[in-house]
Amino acid sequence: MSTVRVTFEPGGQRKQVPRGTLISEAAAIANIDLATPCGGKGQCGQCQVLVKSGEANDPTDAELEHLSSDQLRRGRRLACQTRLMGDTVVEIIPQVAPIVEKSLGPQMARWVPLEPAVRQELVQLSEPVLDDQRSDLRRLADAVADKYPQLTATPSVLRNLPTAVRAEDQRVAAVIHDNQLIAIYPHREAPRCLGAAVDIGTSTMALYLIDLQDGEQLSSAARANSQAQYGLDVVSRIDYANTHAAGLAQLRRKVLGDINELIAEAVDKVSADQQEIYEVTIVGNTCMHHLFLGLEPRYLAEAPYVPVATEPLNLTAGEAGLDINPEANVFCLPCIAGFVGADTVGVIAATEMTHRQQPVLAIDLGTNGEIALWTGESLLVASCAAGPAFEGSEIQQGMRAAPGAIDHVFIRDGDIEITTIANQPATGICGSGLLDAVAVLLELGVIDNSGRFIDDEVPSELSAAVADRLEGEKNLRRIILTDECRNGQVPVALTQRDVREFQLAKGAVRAGIDILLDYAGLSADDLSEVLIAGAFGNYMRAGSALRVGLLPNIPEDRVKGVGNAAGAGAGLALISQTERSYACQVAEAAQHIELFRRPEFQNMFAEQMLFP
Ligand code: FES
Repeated sequence: MSTVRVTFEPGGQRKQVPRGTLISEAAAIANIDLATPCGGKGQCGQCQVLVKSGEANDPTDAELEHLSSDQLRRGRRLACQTRLMGDTVVEIIPQVAPIVEKSLGPQMARWVPLEPAVRQELVQLSEPVLDDQRSDLRRLADAVADKYPQLTATPSVLRNLPTAVRAEDQRVAAVIHDNQLIAIYPHREAPRCLGAAVDIGTSTMALYLIDLQDGEQLSSAARANSQAQYGLDVVSRIDYANTHAAGLAQLRRKVLGDINELIAEAVDKVSADQQEIYEVTIVGNTCMHHLFLGLEPRYLAEAPYVPVATEPLNLTAGEAGLDINPEANVFCLPCIAGFVGADTVGVIAATEMTHRQQPVLAIDLGTNGEIALWTGESLLVASCAAGPAFEGSEIQQGMRAAPGAIDHVFIRDGDIEITTIANQPATGICGSGLLDAVAVLLELGVIDNSGRFIDDEVPSELSAAVADRLEGEKNLRRIILTDECRNGQVPVALTQRDVREFQLAKGAVRAGIDILLDYAGLSADDLSEVLIAGAFGNYMRAGSALRVGLLPNIPEDRVKGVGNAAGAGAGLALISQTERSYACQVAEAAQHIELFRRPEFQNMFAEQMLFP
């Protein structure tokens, strides 16, 4: 019996196997964990690998169905269909969603099945003849009936169907979402099948463009939410919608305009076409969710704070107002309560909190603060009116985390030093810089545990270098963090008022954490990890968060920044229906705790405004 040698990349495993062995069998012999969801029947199209060199059998019908001619030309094959006919090098295509690693960092990377809700199917229809006068749609539906038992289509898609099926001997590329044909092309014109995951933050919006055929993140784009001109926080935007005749429509136009700009930017980076985007998943807090959908936000801000809808929603891009394929599906992840939105659902889902044995806490510090506590058995969530201090707003020289923002402040040789994002000359201070600065001022004794700056009588233990940085009196007291700024710009300073703003935000978040822990009968010691989401979590130093008492007293190595976990949750829901269902289950299971109704809230808030 003749044998061939197969080399698997990237692991480098080599095996000698009988000629004609399937790649999936060879992978099993090499102890490579290659998922074959349909049991190797060629039905799911999920066992894709890349044949980089060597000899293999011609593509089977199953491969012609699941892979475009372009993919086949580039060596993409189905492992369960491809036989090794000579010495071959095969690359295993990971199932991990790059968005998980890119958004959450390598420590949170995990394998997820690539099973998007929208798929492109390459289909061979039977030839119509006088004895078989089934309609074009019926013949297509019958050809894909195994996977999509009740295929339907809107008239606008059907208008393209007769031309598409006759352009290339009845071979078509059909884009299908949940039994709905959303686009049809002749086979050779098969488009890229792209999706976009969108995180609508109150201050910052992010979009990830993902190839739905291999799960690869192609590009991303971010921008400030231009609704900010109507108010920095959700309450002021709701107020604007309530008090202006066309307020809601204006706010909706803004958010749609922003998302459409992000889409244009993201596709432009990879020379794609907006029409190739067939699904968008959306996360955002409940107010952003309502404004995106044009839902009345008024009752979110009035007791008893009832949202219009928290359920997962599907609508077409045409209905949503997005500049992509008008038949594309837009999936809005579910919200939990009036102030605990789909962004929190995204954080919980992306971090898989509820799969853990031990209690874990996740905090998303954006313009609002949301807290989720998995006790090991149940999921508690709460929101706290932290205000936008952690995003640099409401701080005199605050700015969002962008080049030139002071991101870290530390003590060196008895003086204060700073770093800035991208090492640009300082233009302001972002949330992590604010946190560090307050921790440093506490450490140096420049502020006391009530947050008050020391007055003119500078203590002798303070270095002259730090004392020289102090300016102003009483409520106008401030400290210069750096005067090495861009030409013509004033030095970046932290004021007494900035410290007070920080205390309000810190007090609200910490009181929320303590109340959830109390409610669950847990102490800080029980927490196996504290996950900090959002841009703030990316740059935040755990030591500073512990020093100022933003977090309860736990070992520093249990605190982890998880980046834009909300966006990662949207990305996972885009590429995996299993992850989408998990997100929906999380929202169903979560128990919302209304913090301000807890009798202990006011006292705890006042107590936690102080520093330890
Ligand atoms: Fe399903 Fe190969 S395992 S197509």
